[in-house]
Amino acid sequence: MSQNQLDKKSEAWSALFSEPMSDLVKRYTSSVFFDQRLWKQDIRGSLAHAEMLCHQGILGADDLAAIQRGMATITQEIENGSFTWKLDLEDVHLNIEARLTQLVGDAGKRLHTGRSRNDQVATDVRLWLRDEIDLIDGLLAQLQTALLALAEQHADAILPGFTHLQVAQPVSFGHHMLAYVEMFARDAERLQDVRRRVNRLPLGAAALAGTSYPLDRERVAATLGMEGVCQNSLDAVSDRDFAIEFSAAASLAMVHISRLSEELVLWMSQSFGFIDIADRFCTGSSIMPQKKNPDVPELARGKSGRVIGHLMGLLTLMKGQPLAYNKDNQEDKEPLFDTVDTLKDTLRIFAEMVGGITIRPQAMERAALKGYATATDLADYLTKKGLPFRDAHETVAHAVKAAIAQGVDLSELPLEALQKFNPAIGPDVFGVLSLRGSLNARNILGGTAPAQVRAQVARHRGRLQA
Ligand code: ARG
Repeated sequence: MSQNQLDKKSEAWSALFSEPMSDLVKRYTSSVFFDQRLWKQDIRGSLAHAEMLCHQGILGADDLAAIQRGMATITQEIENGSFTWKLDLEDVHLNIEARLTQLVGDAGKRLHTGRSRNDQVATDVRLWLRDEIDLIDGLLAQLQTALLALAEQHADAILPGFTHLQVAQPVSFGHHMLAYVEMFARDAERLQDVRRRVNRLPLGAAALAGTSYPLDRERVAATLGMEGVCQNSLDAVSDRDFAIEFSAAASLAMVHISRLSEELVLWMSQSFGFIDIADRFCTGSSIMPQKKNPDVPELARGKSGRVIGHLMGLLTLMKGQPLAYNKDNQEDKEPLFDTVDTLKDTLRIFAEMVGGITIRPQAMERAALKGYATATDLADYLTKKGLPFRDAHETVAHAVKAAIAQGVDLSELPLEALQKFNPAIGPDVFGVLSLRGSLNARNILGGTAPAQVRAQVARHRGRLQA
């Protein structure tokens, strides 16, 4: 092959073709402008493969040395921006292989022995995704750490807890933040589980049926730090479950972010006025001078839609494919890449933004007072005095009705007025009717009492440090 011919992808299958590929088809089928981000993994995979070929006596030691030298040069070229990516060479794999051959001659042409781009690309994507999962794991930990700081700082702050978006019972603001810590902790757990299935080696499956060369697949897996080898060659080249599982886990993480976002947007609105988000995370309006908009949570809420969309895209991509590799599979990359980019950016910005949240405890407490949030506490009080809970529930409903009619809180009704509803009510009732009393009373594992919140913060910190 002449130097010139190596610039053309058609040389990779060459002789059979009697006319060049049309430019339109070239552009349509090429993936190099998005899959070049796999270059590091492609080189890593190739080096592991070459080392194993040499160890097995399939490749000479001088050829291996030449390949290693060539790959070092290519690494430098890509890093310093002097590498020329060619559309004509279709994808990251052919681009790197062609350059290698340019640099080191026949040794470069021997690299593809016992390998196909089908098992090569599956390996590259898995290696790449494994590294990204580790980065995402770190970002999830950062976000949890930021939420824990906020939870600890505001363990005593009283927030109206809602059901049906109606004031239900007072909760600690810290407790509310800890609910999200639980979600992100599950997200991290899920990703660790996905990682085990990502981290398996397709190389050695070759095009689809395995190879006649005596490859040592376990050796390549060990070199690449993979936990095992894909056990069926057809499955190895066509499986994209790992990408789908990852996207499902990423979608769920984005759903959690989206729910938090929705709350932040509501809480920052004038009608709630519970929180403020630091200016650097907000924008103004080009027409209304008074506006400060929570753009970051709004955008995150919106971006969850596109990550969920990518999950649907990947599922649909796979559902009609017969075994084994089909060109359809090239379409797995952009949704997967965009999912990773979106999730990472969102987690990073949220970890920072959470530190920029200030709360307005008086506004939150006022809102909790408006909703008769301690009615359940009065019912529990009566139950503890011997009334069956259903009767206590009914009694308190009457008391709430009377309080509404007078425009006061339950705690503002005089003792004599309360005793009209049930004579068992004594002066100790006022401890129960206060928001703080209600909060402190829920001192049970998983409950909202500030003591529980602090214990949970400590537990989570221990977990994150382990
Ligand atoms: N660019 C291709 C992809 O991303 C690489 C595998 C191509 N294999 C093939 N037989 N055309 O899936």
